[in-house]
Amino acid sequence: MTSNKICFIGAGNMSRSIISGLVTSGYPADCIEATNPSTPKLDALKADFAINTSSDNAAAAARADVIILSVKPQLMQQVCEALASLDLSHKLIITIAAGIPAARYQDYFGQAIQLIRVMPNTPMQLGAGMSGLYAPANISDEQKAIAEAIVKTGGDAVWVDDEDGLNLVIALAGSSPAYFFLFVEGMINAGISMGMEADKARTLAQQAALGAARMLIENPELTAEQLRQNVTSKGGTTHEAVETFKRGDLHGLTAKAMANCIARAQEMAKQF
Ligand SMILES: NC(=O)c1ccc[n+]([C@@H]2O[C@H](COP(=O)([O-])OP(=O)(O)OC[C@H]3O[C@@H](n4cnc5c(N)ncnc54)[C@H](OP(=O)(O)O)[C@@H]3O)[C@@H](O)[C@H]2O)c1
Repeated sequence: MTSNKICFIGAGNMSRSIISGLVTSGYPADCIEATNPSTPKLDALKADFAINTSSDNAAAAARADVIILSVKPQLMQQVCEALASLDLSHKLIITIAAGIPAARYQDYFGQAIQLIRVMPNTPMQLGAGMSGLYAPANISDEQKAIAEAIVKTGGDAVWVDDEDGLNLVIALAGSSPAYFFLFVEGMINAGISMGMEADKARTLAQQAALGAARMLIENPELTAEQLRQNVTSKGGTTHEAVETFKRGDLHGLTAKAMANCIARAQEMAKQF
């Protein structure tokens, strides 16, 4: 990746995750700047990654080739409007905000812009993230490659062809770490109530989750269903547990949860 000057507007959790990935992968820290109204997060980023920091969004954005918008969706309009007087014609803008359609940013900035939407997830902070990217038709292959290289320092990434696909990315990857936490939480609680010590219940459940995820990743020729069948002998213990989940319609409930997640993303798109 060539060393474009990258500026993060907003120095919260997601910016920290992406910055960590960039610096760990060897991106020059002096080509990265982050802004925030208050200083503690900036001080921590400077101490941990030796990047540049500022509380002046416009000055930092003016210095950058790539501007990464990383504030909460409800603040996005005012943050973008405050940058509207800059000449953005040669800059690539990346937004990681959920819910705000790409076309809306054009209105916020009041000028033609080149913007890519990225939907990351929190495991990015460990280099195990999964992001979806969407680029409108005016974005060049070179600009797409820049955005992809940035997000891939924190994990894997897929492009979606139309913007609605980003809502599916949210349901499958952005929000889904919480689904797995919920499932593991239930396993741990059940294990404890059946007599296992809390720390051992957690170790057993989380290591099983990691092992299952690795088996999926390392056996791409096998479907999730085949992997499940391979460890489920008829009449055995796993079979008993799996049949219980099926009787409770786990798949139906999963589909309903994802549909509700997408519906919420669609509502948010109308809000901003
Ligand atoms: N967290 C996730 O899992 C996730 C996943 C996908 C996408 N996203 C998106 O990522 C974006 C950031 O989320 P986050 O979780 O990183 O939130 P966050 O931790 O709250 O970070 C947002 C940062 O923006 C700062 N900020 C507020 N006003 C600002 C301004 N005028 N100029 C510059 N910075 C300002 C905040 O500073 P103060 O705290 O000092 O006010 C805060 O440090 C959101 O749009 C969210 O939709 C998050």
